[in-house]
Amino acid sequence: MAFSIVIRTKFLDELLQQASASGVRQVVLLGAGMDSRAFRMDWPEGTRLFEVDTSAPLDFKASVLRQEGAVAHCERITVPVDLREDWPGALAAAGHDPAAPTVWIAEGLLIYLPEDAVELLLARISALSAVGSWMGLTLGSRGVIERFGADAVPGSAASMWVSEMPDDPVGWLAGHGWDAAGYTLRERAAAYGRPIGTPPQREERPGGLISAVRR
Ligand SMILES: C[S@@+](CC[C@H](N)C(=O)[O-])C[C@H]1O[C@@H](n2cnc3c(N)ncnc32)[C@H](O)[C@@H]1O
Repeated sequence: MAFSIVIRTKFLDELLQQASASGVRQVVLLGAGMDSRAFRMDWPEGTRLFEVDTSAPLDFKASVLRQEGAVAHCERITVPVDLREDWPGALAAAGHDPAAPTVWIAEGLLIYLPEDAVELLLARISALSAVGSWMGLTLGSRGVIERFGADAVPGSAASMWVSEMPDDPVGWLAGHGWDAAGYTLRERAAAYGRPIGTPPQREERPGGLISAVRR
C-alpha cells in the first residue's frame, strides 16, 4: 500500500501541474485528509485550493499546521462537509465558481464509498465542471477487496473498502462527459523508474489511476 501511495502521489502531482499549466486556477481536493499539496507544491498566482472533508480530520490538520507554522503557497480554503450531504452547496458558499474550470482530485476516496455514492459524486462533479476542467481519481483495482478487505484482513484499514473500479472506467467517465485515460500502477511505476518487481508479486496493487479532461 505504501508503494502504491508513492506512485499515485506523483501521478496526481503531475496532473495538477498540467492542469495549472493549462490555466486552471481552481483546485478541489475531495476527501482531502492530510493532503499537503497546498503547502508543498508551487502554485500559479491566483490559485484557489479547496479542501473538502469532514470537520474532524480538518480540525486535526489545522492544529498540526498551526503548530508547524505551515504557510500555504496558494489561497487555501477548507470546506468541512460530509460528501454524502450537500457538498456542492458548501463548496459554492466557500467561493467555488463552476463557470471557471476546476481540477478535481479524489485520491484514496472512492474505494470507501458505495457504488451509488460514487455515481452521485461523479454526477455532481461533472455538473460543476466547466469545459477545460480536469480530474484525477484513484480507483480500487479489481479483486483488491477480496485480497485485502474486511473478510481477508479483519480490522485493517482496508476493511473499510467497499467499491472497486468499474470494468471500463474510461467508458464510464465518457458517459459523464470526460475524456479519460486509465493507467495501472505497474505501468506508472515503470514510467517513473520505480518498477514493481517481477512475479511472484501480484500483477496489480491497490489503485487504478485515472486522469480526465472535461469535453
Ligand atoms: C484514505 S483518506 C485519503 C486522504 C487524502 N486524499 C490522501 O490521499 O492522502 C480518505 C479521506 O476521505 C475522507 N472521507 C471519507 N468519506 C468521506 C465523506 N463521506 N465525506 C467527507 N470526507 C470523507 C476521510 O475523512 C479521509 O480524510
